[in-house]
Amino acid sequence: MKILAIESSCDETAVAVCEGRQVLSSCIASQVEEHKLYGGVVPEIASRRHVEAIAGLTNEALRQADCTLDEVDAIAVTAYPGLIGALLVGVNFAKGLALSIGKPLVPVHHLRSHIAANYITHPDLKPPFLCLVVSGGHTHLVEVKDYTEFRIIGRTRDDAAGECFDKTARAMGMSYPGGVHLDKIANDGDPTAYALPHPKVEGCPWDFSFSGLKTFVINTIHRCEQKGEAYSVPDLAASVRHHVCEILTEKTMAAAKEFGYTTIALAGGVSANSRLRQRMSEECERAGYTLYLPDVKLCGDNAAMVGAQGYYEFLAGHLAGQDLNATATKSIEEG
Ligand code: KG4
Ligand code: ZN
Repeated sequence: MKILAIESSCDETAVAVCEGRQVLSSCIASQVEEHKLYGGVVPEIASRRHVEAIAGLTNEALRQADCTLDEVDAIAVTAYPGLIGALLVGVNFAKGLALSIGKPLVPVHHLRSHIAANYITHPDLKPPFLCLVVSGGHTHLVEVKDYTEFRIIGRTRDDAAGECFDKTARAMGMSYPGGVHLDKIANDGDPTAYALPHPKVEGCPWDFSFSGLKTFVINTIHRCEQKGEAYSVPDLAASVRHHVCEILTEKTMAAAKEFGYTTIALAGGVSANSRLRQRMSEECERAGYTLYLPDVKLCGDNAAMVGAQGYYEFLAGHLAGQDLNATATKSIEEG
């Protein structure tokens, strides 16, 4: 079956055509250049740009898939969580399309779709497995019990790993989205140059906390600037990357042991991080676990992953009517 999938939860408008977990076309209109001017995503601008891009992108995705709208069997759309105005553009456009061609509408949870990027990259991967979901807004350790059944083991109590990368990178003078630049610059630095806090959440071994680390780094930079002291951007970037990746790797490996998983996957924008991919690969090899990493091109927001997850939601009968509404927050367990 062919699914036309739509993603507009943040600052990328994306449309794809998928056949099961196979991608026939995947188009993305990024707004990064415009949001860069403001150092982060401006929700109002994101919504406007989605409105402008979505129809043309849909035509382009259909053209590249050599498919007409009538040949589409279902419309999948990211309905939650995300920026509400941005989500509404995709959801309302999807509702209109589904109504006009008389085909089912499949709402998709954004984090579920990030996990599904692995189904595209690895045709052999099937649940159950443990997944570390690390994006700009979320950091979750999730048991993927089945394609549409999830249990959160741990989550961040404050900032997501991506937020920690983006905000510390911004304080070091890097442009939005800082995580990508920090990852590159860190390659030239010494990861042991700065002693950074290694936060723990008392009594909750599977939860994360990154705001203390973020604030510590930003304060370090401000202190240096106020005193007119120089600091090394590559060394600080390398230290931040090292610390965040060690925390993520440590907890994921410990959770795999505790909950009996030997298959682990990474998902979300931060899973593109070169150090995280390297550290998880090393530790999984040492433990004899199988690690699945999404193709770097599929780590960030895209609609192909929405199509792949939409396929499994469709098979599970998770359809929506014309009363579907976007929701800014929703647990991956309920999605
Ligand atoms: O999943 P995503 O594209 O959007 C959300 O759903 O939030 O994640 C975006 C996040 C941003 O924080 C961005 O800086 C981060 O992923 N990111 C990276 C890298 N590439 C993207 N963080 C660290 N290293 C990277 N290579
Ligand atoms: Zn995302």
